[in-house]
Amino acid sequence: MDGSLPRKGAGAALRHDSALKHTTGEARYADDLPDAPGTLHGAFVLSAIPHGTLTSLHTDAARTMPGVVAILGPRDIPGKNDIGPATKQEPLFADPVVEFAGMPLALVLATTRDAALRAAAAVKAEIAPLEPVLSIERALELGQNVVPPQVIRRGDAAGAIARAPHRLSAELRAGGQEHFYLESQIALATPGEDGEMTIISSTQHPSEVQHIAARVLGCDYNRVTVTCRRMGGGFGGKESNASWVGAAAAFAARVTGRPVKLRLSRRADMVATGKRHPFLYRWTAGFDDTGRILGLEALLAADGGWSLDMSGGVVFRAITHAVNCCDVPDIALTAQAVKTNTVSNTAFRGFGGPQGALLMEDVVHRVAVALGLPAEAVRARNFLGAPGNSDELPYGQKVEGDLIERVWAEAHRDCEWDRRRAEIAAFNASHPTLRRGLGSMVLAFGISFGLRHLNQAGALVHVYSDGSIRLNHGGTEMGQGLFIKIAQVVTEVFGVELDRVAITATSTAEVPNTAPTAASTGSDLNGWAAYNAAMTIRDRMAEVAAQKWGIAPEAVVFADNRVWAERVGGNKVLDFGELAKLCFLERVSLSATGFYKTPDIHWDPVAMKGHPFFYFSYGAAVAEVIVDTLTGEHRCLRADLVQDCGRSLNPAVDRGQIEGAFVQGMGWLTCEELWWDAQGRLRTVGPSTYKIPGSRDVPPVMNLRLLEGAPVRVETIFRSKAVGEPPLLLATSVWNALKDAIGTADLDLPATPERVLMAIRRKS
Ligand code: MTE
Ligand code: HPA
Ligand code: MOS
Repeated sequence: MDGSLPRKGAGAALRHDSALKHTTGEARYADDLPDAPGTLHGAFVLSAIPHGTLTSLHTDAARTMPGVVAILGPRDIPGKNDIGPATKQEPLFADPVVEFAGMPLALVLATTRDAALRAAAAVKAEIAPLEPVLSIERALELGQNVVPPQVIRRGDAAGAIARAPHRLSAELRAGGQEHFYLESQIALATPGEDGEMTIISSTQHPSEVQHIAARVLGCDYNRVTVTCRRMGGGFGGKESNASWVGAAAAFAARVTGRPVKLRLSRRADMVATGKRHPFLYRWTAGFDDTGRILGLEALLAADGGWSLDMSGGVVFRAITHAVNCCDVPDIALTAQAVKTNTVSNTAFRGFGGPQGALLMEDVVHRVAVALGLPAEAVRARNFLGAPGNSDELPYGQKVEGDLIERVWAEAHRDCEWDRRRAEIAAFNASHPTLRRGLGSMVLAFGISFGLRHLNQAGALVHVYSDGSIRLNHGGTEMGQGLFIKIAQVVTEVFGVELDRVAITATSTAEVPNTAPTAASTGSDLNGWAAYNAAMTIRDRMAEVAAQKWGIAPEAVVFADNRVWAERVGGNKVLDFGELAKLCFLERVSLSATGFYKTPDIHWDPVAMKGHPFFYFSYGAAVAEVIVDTLTGEHRCLRADLVQDCGRSLNPAVDRGQIEGAFVQGMGWLTCEELWWDAQGRLRTVGPSTYKIPGSRDVPPVMNLRLLEGAPVRVETIFRSKAVGEPPLLLATSVWNALKDAIGTADLDLPATPERVLMAIRRKS
């Protein structure tokens, strides 16, 4: 790593705190914990048809199978049969309406997991079929929505389009995406005294597991404790979907009085848990000869699946990111989520932002092809904040045009654009069947939860009398490196080495009422909360040292595992542990909570205007692809990425996030295809039928740079910026490169070899 980086504290390129444990297998995931005596294992009975009325469930054969202890359904629930995170109308078990193929009908409990799975397969359901709605188009015709249309309007879009020198209309489809976290959904619930329930859950949102388990159990929140040490990946898939798995385990534990472990098989996980929302786009744009887009009318229709889940937030992020980095003076954007009889779609890295941004990419590319201009020229002509253009988004928030310009200029320079353009043109002219192409992407991603109240965090820090520190906060660890980043914030405050800080599992008993770890805000929110907790303790410790030395508390310095009077290296010094001991003897509290709420965010849902994001993260990418025009097969040969992380809390972790997000985005846009049959059953239910990128799909040349020296204009923790989701959008450069290679902008997503081949055929 860059030698100028600090070796410790905030900004150090430290490896993930569990990196070695991840690779040796010592890191404990929920399923690695030893079973307590009497533990039961659960398996769901899932509907095989997408829509109907459950008339009867034949469980007799299953009940007598070896090891089977109970088969539970909606009638056995002590509280409510409702797992809705946003509204309260989402049944855990069909009762009696079946809404999608994969909907839970019953839960089998047995002494082993195999016995539970075998018995679940032996349960027979009778379902009187109802007509299913299986496409966005059909749901639009019927007008059935889970999120009704929302409109952002500025100026007179229809008039601007009518007056423009050129007009173009198009339709685009983008597919969904399975999270494919390596650890499938899992929860382990243990009943305790006085109605207590402890749930170990692989969740991004322990507080919501707590709330929904309490709703299903029919008890107060204070009876339910949820903990999570780490997830084997979440990617948004464990923001709401972990809650119903946890609630089901808790309810089964309550009814049987025994600990219950519920681990979904890969197949059950794929059919029964939500995915990224597929989108359908319909738009008309008016533009001039230079490619300046003068007016745009667009519909963004997401497939919400059978229930609301968090589709409201996803639609919000899609509509607020639909122009991405471009200025469109007169605009009318409509976004909605239709209701279909498919699994309820949910958060997935980017949360509708990537889908929103695809709209503008489609517009830019089709306009470029229509005018015979390079797509990059059309994009740059329309940049927010470019000369003559506004820097204000259609909903009223401004972006930093200088940073858009800067990330693009750096990516353009890094990739040797002009030289490679010429080289690619020569290659394409000389090769009969292979085509290479270059594509770019520039992004501005808004940081903050769309829901104002989620932008808060808490932390709990203890310093023990030997000077060791215990850190707890509301954020969860899913592999993204949140725990080490927050530990670095705390070491920075106390001036100690990382080995003094114990990282601990997230728990609703330690920090209550938390937001999910999502929207890339984990380190922004919990970093400040932990900072505030640590500063409270540090101030108290400084007071004690100051009194001992007869100096002002402000003159006490915390550095190098020690505490100094006035300056590091002076002769008045205490070991950090000695001072902690002294505080104890002086009866000074060494424990504190910290709290943070994001300032300056607001939204008017009637006017559809406001300032919903604390700030934006910026990034740019250039990708090169090669396409076999006879088969449609393609590879990404090189990617040059520039991402703005502000003053990174941990550049090693941030680089990992950027690489991972880019490759995961490539998967969404090029090879991962969810396929439902005509009966509405998902048929891509495992790695053999659902292709996620492998190590050999990573571009052989991947140049990645964190933007350096750029201003961070708001007060983030140590002036760092969020990184978890934004770089996923950079993979859009690969789609753009494919379109460049085959010479058409008409390419639906995912751009699998089949779709690329069809696009080539359509064109010729
Ligand atoms: N990185 C890893 N390794 N695993 C994950 O599950 N989730 C992503 C991103 N990076 C994820 C990840 C998503 S969807 C989000 S919102 C952020 O991490 C959440 O963490 P943060 O807010 O701490 O960045
Ligand atoms: N991102 C991710 N998860 C969320 C959001 C968001 O903007 N809002 C509510 N849950
Ligand atoms: Mo990430 S989709 O906000 O969990």
